[in-house]
Parts: sequence; structure tokens; C-alpha cells
Amino acid sequence: MPNFDPISIRNDFPILQTQVYGKPLVYFDNAATTQKPQVVIDVLNNYYTHQNSNIHRGVHYLSQEATTAFEKARESVRGFINAKHSREVIFTRGTTESINLVASSFGKCFLKKGDNIIISAMEHHSNIVPWQMVCEEHHAELKIIPIDENGDIMMDEFEKLITDDTRLVAVTHISNVLGTINPIEKIIKKSHQFDIPVLIDGAQGISHTEVDVQALNCDFYCFSGHKMYAPMGVGVLYGKEYWLEQMPPYQGGGEMIKEVTFKRTTYNELPYKFEAGTPNVGDVLGLEAAIQYMKKLTLPAIAEYENSLLQYATSRLSAYEDITIIGNSKQKASVLSFLIEQVHPYDAGVIIDKMGIAIRTGHHCAQPLMDWLNISGTMRASFAFYNTKEEIDKMMDAVVVIRTMFL
Ligand SMILES: Cc1ncc(COP(=O)(O)O)c(C=O)c1O
Repeated sequence: MPNFDPISIRNDFPILQTQVYGKPLVYFDNAATTQKPQVVIDVLNNYYTHQNSNIHRGVHYLSQEATTAFEKARESVRGFINAKHSREVIFTRGTTESINLVASSFGKCFLKKGDNIIISAMEHHSNIVPWQMVCEEHHAELKIIPIDENGDIMMDEFEKLITDDTRLVAVTHISNVLGTINPIEKIIKKSHQFDIPVLIDGAQGISHTEVDVQALNCDFYCFSGHKMYAPMGVGVLYGKEYWLEQMPPYQGGGEMIKEVTFKRTTYNELPYKFEAGTPNVGDVLGLEAAIQYMKKLTLPAIAEYENSLLQYATSRLSAYEDITIIGNSKQKASVLSFLIEQVHPYDAGVIIDKMGIAIRTGHHCAQPLMDWLNISGTMRASFAFYNTKEEIDKMMDAVVVIRTMFL
């Protein structure tokens, strides 16, 4: 990892200088949301100080400038995920909205009674509930790929679920609980053998691995800005033009139309057909700034460094017999769930918080996975490239204190 210096990187993130309860903040809740570098904060500040204007419709200077910046950001996103065309990049509020858009619009177009959709047992509620809703609406069935004791998708079982009536497969790239990096290339290849499109929930994938949607050949890839150092309230749906062209608009309103009369409306071309209403211009520019920031660090270097943190924390936790790590896939990103015997995750979370350490406790919006694992929740530390081994040592000191309190 030449040139990878987390200490200087930390200086780019003002919030990391914060003290909580009089102690320096240790922020290990990156799977929930990441912190923002100064360059992203500056772009927001600059936008609202100098550029704020509604886009696409205005002929005045500011509107044109904001429109150019907005479309340039779209092009940056396109490059970041290597989409073929920028018209395949749709701005949304986040992963949840991207998945809902596909579920609703794809469902209207392609789903009928007796069809089925396949998801996995490790999905976030955002990649479960929209499919449940759309299956209910169209009298289709939702099928679940099981996972094994390590937290890996059971590929043999997946193949058995595919039928002539399977219309779509929707799986997460990286589990927000287990950390498993799913074999999405294999899932996509297998599905395509049966002409079934695949949606990837990239909420966790986008910040930990290099994503090339053309190499993956996925049909849809969904992600949120706030999980990749960009502002909250902006996200992306990548969709292959082939599918997006056929799918009806998700919402009606301004921007998504070509012509409106009281009798009939014709729709705008891609990507605007799916972007009804005034878009979130400032946050889109913030997303572009975050992309430029990550590109400078490079994703392979980010992944390598984060993996070193994961290995270190895993080996430290593994030293205790009464600590169980939940999720032991060989392919893992820096998301580490664990349980301390006899200690409820919530109690542990409250105590650890008082020591200045932010981890997440609970079901992590994956209640069906918790049922599958037969647990009520976990403690979860999720690392970003600005975290350090010294911070992991602080968490371990806290874990040791909690163990002795509950012994
Ligand atoms: C795997 C996964 N999918 C979807 C989501 C939903 O993301 P958002 O709330 O940004 O829409 C999350 C958020 O934690 C996630 O981890």
C-alpha cells in the first residue's frame, strides 16, 4: 500500500477530530453511513453560496452553470462504475429508492401471476420489502437463496430455485451484517444463462470494491452516496439501457415529460424519464467530489488497507472463546459482526458508546437474516480507510471491560 497514509487522510475529515464524552471519537459505524471529507463539505458550501439554481429549464447564467455541473457529475458517476452511457445513470435518493424504482417499474412491465423473483437470505430490508410488495401486487412468489454456516450463498441451492417463471434475481454485493462479498459474477452469469436479469444492491459494495458494471454485466446496480463519503439524500440507479427503455416511469411530474396535454403525456428520454421533479443538485455535486476523492486513494488501495483492519480486528476478537464472530466467509469486506456470550448487543452498545466508540448494535435492517441465524442482533464494527489499528485496540479494551462486567 504505497502512499496510503490513514493519519493524513484523517485530517481530511473534520468530524474525526470530535470528542464524545470527553474522549476522541472512534467511528466504527461506516456501514450505516460514512463521514464526509472537507472537499465534499466545501462543494456543498460553494454550491449554495455561488451556484444554487434549478437546472435544465432555465436560460439564465446560474441555471446553465448548475445544469452543466450536474451533468458533468453524472458523467463522473458513469466513469466511476464504467457504465456504457450516462443515460444509464439515474439519480435517486439512495439505494432504497433505486430498488423501489426497479421493483415498481420492472414489476409493472414484466411481472405477472405465477412468476417469481429470487433474493438471498442475507438481504437488507431495502432489498426484501420492495420485492414483497411488488410480488403481492402481481401475485408472484418471492424465493430465498439459503446461506451456509459461514455466511456464504449456497450456489447449488440458487440454481435449484431458478424456473421458467423467474423474472429477476436481486442480491446484495456485500452483506451489511456478515461482510460476505457475494460471488455476483457467478450469480449474474448463471442467471443470464436463463435470460434472467440481475439487480445488485451495491449499498455496501460501492465503497469497498471496484465496480465495473460492464465487466460484471449486471442489469441494475444500486447505491447510496452517503455510504461512500458523499452527502445523504442522493443515490444512483445504474440500469442497462435495454431494460430502462422498456420500463415505464416510476413517478410523474416535471422533468420526466416530453409533452403534456390534458389528454396525454409523452415521456422524456433516458435518464430524465426516471427523474421526476427538481433533482438534488447540491448533493449530486457532493457525490462527484466524493468520487474524485476516492479515485485519488484508489479502490484497490482502499480495499487492501481496510482488509488489513478487518484481519487485525478478527484476530483480536478471535482470542476470546466467549466471543463469536457472525459471518466467516473467506471473501469478506471490512464489516465485522460479533457477539459476546451472555451480553445483549444493546447493553454492550450503550456501554461502548460511553467510551467514545461508535459501533452499531441490533438487527441492522436484516430481521429475516437474524431469524435465519437464530439471534436477535449483533454488535457490528464496520471500518473505513480513515480508521486505524490503534482505534481497534481501543474497541478491544472496551470489549474486555464489558466481558468482565458481565462474567
Ligand atoms: C446492503 C444494504 N442495502 C440497502 C441499504 C439501504 O441504503 P439506504 O438507506 O441508503 O437507501 C443499506 C443500508 O444500510 C444496506 O446496507
